[in-house]
Amino acid sequence: MTEILTPRLILRRWNDDDLVPLSEINGDPEVMRWIGDGSVRDLEETAEDLERWEEEWDEEGFGLFAVELLGSGELIGVVGLSVPEYLPEVLPAVEITWRLGRQYWGQGYASEAAHATLEYALQDRGLDRVVAVNRAGNDESENVIRKLGMVPERDTTHPRYGHLLQIHSIDLTEYEA
Ligand SMILES: CC(C)(COP(=O)(O)OP(=O)(O)OC[C@H]1O[C@@H](n2cnc3c(N)ncnc32)[C@H](O)[C@@H]1OP(=O)(O)O)[C@@H](O)C(=O)NCCC(=O)NCCS
Repeated sequence: MTEILTPRLILRRWNDDDLVPLSEINGDPEVMRWIGDGSVRDLEETAEDLERWEEEWDEEGFGLFAVELLGSGELIGVVGLSVPEYLPEVLPAVEITWRLGRQYWGQGYASEAAHATLEYALQDRGLDRVVAVNRAGNDESENVIRKLGMVPERDTTHPRYGHLLQIHSIDLTEYEA
């Protein structure tokens, strides 16, 4: 069972108790504003996401982590790795993404989880390179990307929704520099 401990967080795989707190996060329009077409996801859609994410873990050997606050055990969001199938032009690639409940923003939790995820990807899992795809205007997310030391690569447009996407990347050499 893959589990990562950081000073304040546990990154772990998903269980049934995560469904309700995750669907609350997915139901907040402010959280979902920059994700996909910006629509919220209900309980049923969130259950489908969880099932798919666990399948991806089994198939790829990496995936999206449930992020839990140490001590309280609250689920605060999602940080992890996925294959960006929605953007064929970057494939093959592994993308790092993040999404926290609004009450957990501004406390450094996203960056803490993202740093641990990047180390897991490049050092433990031995991936060559990790990309981050950010919708232009999502400054909070760009801030996390920047703090990870990811390098701007190019801009493109979302094949389905047409909005501007900024691609960043990092490889092991850049990570260790
Ligand atoms: C993107 C998102 C995860 C960023 O979360 P966040 O909380 O702003 O990010 P961080 O963890 O980097 O924390 C930010 C701030 O917390 C503050 N902070 C407070 N306590 C801290 C601590 N102990 N350690 C570090 N930072 C701390 C810092 O000031 C930091 O800002 P700075 O980098 O300007 O100094 C969040 O806005 C979100 O979930 N958005 C909706 C989903 C989304 O758009 N995801 C991206 C597309 S997939």
